[in-house]
Amino acid sequence: MNSTWIILGATSSMARAFARAVAAEGAAVLLAGRDIDDLMVMAIDCRLRGARLAEPVMFDARKPGGFADLIERMEKEEGELNAAVFVGSMPEQSAIDEDPSLIDGVIADSHTGPVRFLQMLAPLMEARGGGTVVGVASVAGDRGRLGNYVYGSAKAGFATYLSGLRNRLTRAGGHVVTVKPGFVDTAMTWGLPGMFLVATPEAVAKDILTAVRKRKNTIYTPFFWRYIMLIIRHIPEPIFKKMKI
Ligand SMILES: NC(=O)c1ccc[n+]([C@@H]2O[C@H](COP(=O)([O-])OP(=O)(O)OC[C@H]3O[C@@H](n4cnc5c(N)ncnc54)[C@H](OP(=O)(O)O)[C@@H]3O)[C@@H](O)[C@H]2O)c1
Repeated sequence: MNSTWIILGATSSMARAFARAVAAEGAAVLLAGRDIDDLMVMAIDCRLRGARLAEPVMFDARKPGGFADLIERMEKEEGELNAAVFVGSMPEQSAIDEDPSLIDGVIADSHTGPVRFLQMLAPLMEARGGGTVVGVASVAGDRGRLGNYVYGSAKAGFATYLSGLRNRLTRAGGHVVTVKPGFVDTAMTWGLPGMFLVATPEAVAKDILTAVRKRKNTIYTPFFWRYIMLIIRHIPEPIFKKMKI
C-alpha cells in the first residue's frame, strides 16, 4: 500500500535516521523543517535509499499560518498518511529564568505548534481510515525537575495530547505512538553536563520503527528509562523537592 510520512523537525538527527529507515521501505517522505537547503540534501539521500518520493517542505512550529499548505500537500498523496513529530527546543532553564519571554517559543516548538498541525491532519487521517502518528515527547515530561521544568511541562502537555489523539484515531483505524527518549546524543544535548546512559539517534530511530510496526502505545527509549522514571516518579514529593537531579 502507498504510504506517506511527513516528518516534522526532519533536521533532528533522530528524525534523519527515522526518515532513512522509512525511505528504505519505499515510503514517500515529506521532510518538514526550517532549513530547506539542508532538507534538499536529505531528500536526495532518501531517494537514493529507495523513497518513492522525497521532498523538503517548509514548517515553522511558531508560524501556524503555513500549516494549511502542508495539509493540502499531504492530501495530494494517495494511500496511508502518517506523521512523525521530532520538533522541540530546550533553552537552558537558567536562560528562561532570566528571560521568561523565551517560554512562548519552548511551548510553541514542543507542544502547541505540533498539536495544532496534528489537529488539522487528524480529519484527513480519519477520512483515509488509518495511518500512524509518532510523537516524540520526553522523560522530562514525567516529572518536573529543577534543570528543565518549562521544557518538561511542554513535553508533558504533548504526551497528554498524544494520549487523547490515540483515543480519537483508534476509532478510525489509526494509531499513535508516544516516544519518551532518555538522554540522546544530538545537537540539543551537545555539551550539557550530567548526561549518562546516552543513546545514539540511530538506536532511538530503530526503537521507534519497531514500536510503529508493533503498534505500541508508549515507549521509553532506550527501554530501561521506563524503570528509571518509575523510580523517579515514586520519590515522595517532600524528598524530591530537595533533590537536584
Ligand atoms: N536529545 C535528547 O536527549 C532528547 C531527549 C528526549 C527528547 N528529545 C526530543 O527529541 C526531539 C528531537 O530532538 P534532538 O535531540 O534531535 O534535537 P535537535 O537536533 O535540536 O532537534 C530539534 C528539531 O526541532 C526543530 N525545531 C525547533 N524549533 C522549531 C520550530 N520553531 N519550527 C520547526 N522546527 C523546529 C529543529 O529544527 P532546526 O534544525 O530548524 O533548528 C530540529 O529539527 C525533540 O522533540 C526533543 O525535545 C530529545
